[in-house]
Amino acid sequence: MADSVTIVEVGPRDGLQNEKAEIATVDKLALIGMLADAGLSRIEATAFVSPRWVPQMADHGAVMRGVDRRRGVIYSALVPNEKGAEAALAAGAQALAVFTAASESFCRKNTNCSIAESIARFRPVMALAERASVPVRGYLSCALDCPYEGAIAPEAVAAVTAELLALGCNEIALSDTLGRGTPERTAAMVEAALQRVPATMLAGHFHDTSGQAIANVETAWQLGLRVFDGSVGGLGGCPYALGAAGNLATERLVVHFAAKGVETGVDLARLNGIAERVAERFRPAGAASR
Ligand code: HMG
Ligand code: MG
Repeated sequence: MADSVTIVEVGPRDGLQNEKAEIATVDKLALIGMLADAGLSRIEATAFVSPRWVPQMADHGAVMRGVDRRRGVIYSALVPNEKGAEAALAAGAQALAVFTAASESFCRKNTNCSIAESIARFRPVMALAERASVPVRGYLSCALDCPYEGAIAPEAVAAVTAELLALGCNEIALSDTLGRGTPERTAAMVEAALQRVPATMLAGHFHDTSGQAIANVETAWQLGLRVFDGSVGGLGGCPYALGAAGNLATERLVVHFAAKGVETGVDLARLNGIAERVAERFRPAGAASR
């Protein structure tokens, strides 16, 4: 049987969260629909975060409720706390994603709390998710670099990865928030995480500021990871990580794995069509640097 990889499409959340101009809910829903039609089986549809912190995600309830659900597609929501989890589940989220960081400074800027406090906030999220039989991914931001603290030690990543595992996350997304990682540093970081968590529970979430994201994906693939995040058209960044350019474009992930003979289940022609429409509508944040 051919090797396969799962691509998690985070464009509707990580991509759009950074857009300054208001995007109509109906346009977000159209994007999510097109992505599902292109064969993406996991789509992070929105974030149930504070609308004061991230205004672009303020229509989270309408997005999650309005999704025209395709069979076999899992629509997930990013949540920072119990309030977000309750609202996401009530709106029909089929998976949740919590998020913390390997860097104290970034965690505070992004969620106004320490790493330990963020983990404590996730406990009631896990309880709600368990009751609803919904899986929870844990994002670990700044797995390579922090905009405030610089390079992050692989051991720090491994320690928080282990905490997210102990919390009950079914998958931990090692995230290069700034997108400046190199394959060598990616290897050291992933190898440290693998000391604590099996490869089957790890995912790679790479931003592409330095144009190294595909090389980093390949490094993580060689180390056994089989789940990678992409954002159609390379949309995105993080509002609390200045300098972080776009996410790795989903279409580049698909091309990379197709060249290796690895199955993604994604229709590249359809995906390229969506990327073109996205490029017309939004200027990818990383376009200038690539
Ligand atoms: P806070 O101000 O410390 O929280 O924010 P609070 O508990 O004091 O609440 C303040 C207000 O927010 C209250 O409203 C709450 O009800 C409300 P008020 O009474 O003042 O009107 N509130 C909420 N509203 C909606 N949904 C919620 C929610 N929780 C509280 N869930 C908080 C703490 C975590 C809420 C805030 O810091 C926040 O929302 N942060 C989100 C930041 C964010 O979304 N960042 C981008 C996503 S992470 C990312 O992009 C990285 C990732 O892609 C991986 C990578 O690349 O590294 C995942
Ligand atoms: Mg991100």
